[in-house]
Amino acid sequence: MKILVIGSGGREHAIVDALARSPKAEKIYCAPGNAGIALQAECVDLKDTDVEGLANFAKEHQIDLTVVGPEASLAAGVVDRFKAEGLTIFGPTKSATRIESSKEFAKELMQKYEIPTAAFRSFTAYEEALAYVQSRPLPAVLKYDGLAAGKGVVIAETLEEADAALKDMLLDDKFGKGKVVVEDFLTGPEFSFLCFVAGEEVYPMVLSQDHKRAFDGDKGPNTGGMGAYSPLPFISDEERQWTLEHVMRPTARAMAKEGCPFTGVLYGGLMKTPAGIKVIEFNARFGDPETEVVLPRLKSDIVEVFHALARGEKPACAVEGELEWHDFATLGIVMASKGYPESYAKGFEIKGLDQVEQVYHMGTASKEGRLVTNGGRVLFVVGRGSDLKAAREDALRQVAKIECENLFHRTDIGHWAL
Ligand code: AMP
Ligand code: GLY
Repeated sequence: MKILVIGSGGREHAIVDALARSPKAEKIYCAPGNAGIALQAECVDLKDTDVEGLANFAKEHQIDLTVVGPEASLAAGVVDRFKAEGLTIFGPTKSATRIESSKEFAKELMQKYEIPTAAFRSFTAYEEALAYVQSRPLPAVLKYDGLAAGKGVVIAETLEEADAALKDMLLDDKFGKGKVVVEDFLTGPEFSFLCFVAGEEVYPMVLSQDHKRAFDGDKGPNTGGMGAYSPLPFISDEERQWTLEHVMRPTARAMAKEGCPFTGVLYGGLMKTPAGIKVIEFNARFGDPETEVVLPRLKSDIVEVFHALARGEKPACAVEGELEWHDFATLGIVMASKGYPESYAKGFEIKGLDQVEQVYHMGTASKEGRLVTNGGRVLFVVGRGSDLKAAREDALRQVAKIECENLFHRTDIGHWAL
């Protein structure tokens, strides 16, 4: 099969790597890809939002299967366009992507189908939103309803903070004209449950956890994720099964009932609260960096999974609804540019990668034959072991082999479990 992957980060590198393990993958392209992906696939110089260019490429090169990584490509309508052209693509339509792009859509769906989540209301008027916040316990969670580059969620500890955030979102339209979802604050450890989905067919992946803060001890600003690991010792098999039956499957059924059946990766961002497991958010795609620790554990043939589901069929490799997974633990560490998530410089040379067993490139480029940093998050180094402790030691050992003067990383990934 000829396969096209859309995207350019560590997530897409992990997808390409998983595809490359399949005997069914005859040729893999990645648009636009990066310097690491180029070692395993042919990179194509097309932007991940260039719907026209991507569809033309897929037709001209007789691509049998396309897999979409980024939310931006989904929002640009790449799946709708490919489907209209009769091309096989694994990813949700724009209408189904609303489960991620619209907080209000997701919350109303959960309310209607009794999927456990924090109590909420949504508002367009600043005064009404403020009155509701005043009527609920603090902290208040305020979510701008739309894409706000990761800055759309405010956890307000005081009424003054809530007031300021509501003014930004509803009076000054800081992110554009939109709504705000106000929800109750929940507590407990967060985890990610990614499932391969096609309509009502749901094939769960192993659980993982991301680390959002920049520095050790969960300190510093929020980032796109500084590390991840799998499995999670604090969620039992029974709890995973419960979440599958009470959250992930009902959500897939609900999407189908609402006339926007979901095909792609449905990502449950969940919290284990004292009152049970609840949904914090859904994403309509593979998580980054969760994918980089989850897919290395997949034993089943991912080409078969993607291809069958993209065509609305059951993957033949699934046994009683489950795919096969390796028992080993994975733990991955992000190496980021100094200054990330704020401003940072690019173009620093990276050496020593030939000594490293498993590394996914998040933001690299090659310049005159040298590998250089080319983003905020640069590399994702994956350690493996019989347990998480061994996987962390393995990851840290590999990180130490990488030479670059402008990178930093966390040393405590997995501390929730260890
Ligand atoms: P979201 O974009 O909805 O995932 O929110 C970003 C982050 O804010 C989450 O990963 C949580 O850490 C936090 N958060 C969101 N909603 C809640 C909530 N209801 N209670 C507590 N924390 C929350
Ligand atoms: N790791 C969080 C995300 O992919 O949204």
